Amino acid sequence: MCDFLGVAPPDGPWFEELSNAIVRGMDAGLEPERAEPGIKARAELSRMVSGWLETADEDGFLCAARAARAQAPEVSEAVLTNSLRGVLHAGYESVSRLLGNALARLVDDPALLDRAMAENALDPLVDELLRLDGPVQADARACVADSELNGQRIRRGEVVVLLLGAADRDPEVFADPDAVDLTRRKGAHLAFGRGAHACLGAGLATLQLRAVLSALHTAGIGFRPQGPAEYEPTATLRGLRTLPVAVSEPAASF
Ligand code: HEM
Repeated sequence: MCDFLGVAPPDGPWFEELSNAIVRGMDAGLEPERAEPGIKARAELSRMVSGWLETADEDGFLCAARAARAQAPEVSEAVLTNSLRGVLHAGYESVSRLLGNALARLVDDPALLDRAMAENALDPLVDELLRLDGPVQADARACVADSELNGQRIRRGEVVVLLLGAADRDPEVFADPDAVDLTRRKGAHLAFGRGAHACLGAGLATLQLRAVLSALHTAGIGFRPQGPAEYEPTATLRGLRTLPVAVSEPAASF
């Protein structure tokens, strides 16, 4: 993400702590004590991004954002830095979690990647991994007009929580929803949300997962589980804490 933004990476452990506080803060509706550390961490990362705006490389995303703002003075400094902090954080946490979740599935089903490659179905595999193992389990929308949905009244101003992870396994939409099916209709999942505020980085994230899967396949690296995968105790973002595996040398087999 720092290459993409055009800046040098921050100190790893420092960033990781703030980033985790933000992720935990997303669950504040369930665990209110997670809210405040998340808000503080957001503010701290926004300060870092604000400093970056002065020094970022000419050819990175931050520099392009700075130039775009010069054409749109109505966008305040705070909106710019908070949005760019959102890009940094979403780009880092979501993609790293997706890659981990996807790897856990490949460890469980070692023939899956070879099967997809043999069927020329890398893109459908990427789509299925996003559907089944997408890191963003829930999203929210504020209702702008009194509405009714499935007999449920929703008043203007109320916030509706959308369980994307559940929608992506809805048996009325996806037959045999828990199975990887490389023939499903492309892009039917909600892993990146939908509408005006759908994920800005969907293309970049898809590219990264595709690149990692291709590289693993080309290198012929194999994985063997060495213990159960453990997930972080978070609800909104789903990701691994540990995935113990043995990694085979390229072209070797277990
Ligand atoms: C696996 C990777 C990713 C997943 C699953 C993901 C998922 C999502 C989801 C579900 C949303 C909310 C969409 C909605 O409310 O309809 C979102 C928003 C967003 N994502 Fe991602 N994202 C990923 C990677 C990225 C990357 C790489 C970037 C940046 C380069 C990024 C930047 C953003 C931003 C800025 C928003 C807010 C958009 C807005 O509110 O208008 N995301 N993402």
